[in-house]
Amino acid sequence: MVATFKNYQDLSAFAANKIIRLVKHKKNAVLCLAAGDTPALTYHLVVETAKREAISFSEIIFTGLDEWVGIGPDIPGSCYHFLQQKIFGPLGIKKTQIHFFNSMATDLQQECNRINTIIQTVRGIDLALVGIGLNGHVGFNEPGIDPAGNAHVVTLDEVTSIVGQKYFKTNTALSKGITLGMAQIMQAREVLLLANGAKKAAIIRRTLKEDISNAVPAGFITTHPNGWILLDEEAAAEL
Ligand code: GLP
Repeated sequence: MVATFKNYQDLSAFAANKIIRLVKHKKNAVLCLAAGDTPALTYHLVVETAKREAISFSEIIFTGLDEWVGIGPDIPGSCYHFLQQKIFGPLGIKKTQIHFFNSMATDLQQECNRINTIIQTVRGIDLALVGIGLNGHVGFNEPGIDPAGNAHVVTLDEVTSIVGQKYFKTNTALSKGITLGMAQIMQAREVLLLANGAKKAAIIRRTLKEDISNAVPAGFITTHPNGWILLDEEAAAEL
């Protein structure tokens, strides 16, 4: 389903409401949350509502979506740091509730296996909230990926390495990522893909108008039975 909202505020309120409703309904839901600029307001609204309505997140399980290889959790710009600041910290989420990639691990393949096992053990993701890269990536599932893949290490697309600089104060080498695979995202019981702003309009056009293929990984989400593409008017401008 594609839904277009008047603005970023309304889009974020819709996504936040989906998370809140799930958490109210399923105390031990498994959430997979993207970092990035796009979901920042959604997380702010989730925190605000949870505090106002005293909604407990104490049994919710969080899985990581992706991380820059070699960028530790304490470094501003890492996906973990972002989520810690925006949602884990404000909601008082315990470390035991969070299953995130350790992108500093010496054996990254083993790290992928660890996360794959955790996702199986928790019986899959209830809700995955993802963004879209300017090249159509989801997590770090870059153009050309195997849609049947699970967690893996990836050499980042040039676009991703360049655009990713926006999260860091100083120039940072970003050459590899570690990410859940497209199959794990597609197996989530519900997927929300959020896109806002004029800079996303061209890739949203490709996502929704081109034949579905791994050239634009975000396109796969349009085939998910509970997949939502949530746009603001600027991101939907080329449709
Ligand atoms: C980044 C992240 C993705 C994110 C996407 C969009 O590189 N690895 O998980 O969803 O690209 O980011 P943004 O929301 O900042 O546009």
